[in-house]
Amino acid sequence: MPIIIQPAEESHVLPITELVNLFAAENLMLPRTEESVRQTLADWLVAVDPDAGPNDPPILACGALVPLTETLVELRSLAVHPSQQGKGLGGHMVNHLVQMARERGYHQICALTLREQFFVRLGFEPVDRWSISPKVWQACIYCPKFHRCDEVAVIMNLVENPQTATHPLARPAGWNTLLRWSEWQPLKLAYRQKQAEI
Ligand SMILES: CC(C)(COP(=O)(O)OP(=O)(O)OC[C@H]1O[C@@H](n2cnc3c(N)ncnc32)[C@H](O)[C@@H]1OP(=O)(O)O)[C@@H](O)C(=O)NCCC(=O)NCCS
Repeated sequence: MPIIIQPAEESHVLPITELVNLFAAENLMLPRTEESVRQTLADWLVAVDPDAGPNDPPILACGALVPLTETLVELRSLAVHPSQQGKGLGGHMVNHLVQMARERGYHQICALTLREQFFVRLGFEPVDRWSISPKVWQACIYCPKFHRCDEVAVIMNLVENPQTATHPLARPAGWNTLLRWSEWQPLKLAYRQKQAEI
């Protein structure tokens, strides 16, 4: 029977954590805890072999979506078991995660990766890492490689005009008075204001 890509289930929490942390130990991705995987289980896909025996790996690949804003989602923790790499499974996982992002109404999907060409071949475009501000604020600051990051940012538009399109789950205008990240302005430093007043 062919490999099946499906939503992750509770029994996959430990195998996902082990697969991700196998590559995290090589500094290829960020480590995950069982707890963090369990809490976000609805956002994970796994690849399984229905004919797998007790000595086979319980999952062959995994990957997750991490919402960054209402319209931007990150593809994170993509990992293919070493025995299955180079056979197209990673590409299938990305395509399924992109489809899941579309179905959830996101306008753009991004990733930080050391495998730029792998993502480019799948339809992503390289972009300036710092243009993905929410990613930087939410996760990168906790990364041990923050000050020597060697990853490339890639992005794919899921709708025609991602900047202007309305999210299907968008709340009415004015529901939240907090500024969106794209509207943030540089802080005006107090001492400069004081100097200006003198
Ligand atoms: C990166 C990773 C997810 C790719 O998964 P994969 O299953 O090996 O990916 P694919 O097989 O779809 O593609 C890998 C390469 O094999 C080639 N390939 C695709 N189908 C193939 C096939 N049937 N036979 C041989 N090669 C094939 C692709 O051209 C691709 O080349 P590229 O790397 O130059 O783009 C996987 O290598 C992995 O888990 N790496 C360790 C963890 C990691 O780095 N994760 C971070 C990813 S952001």
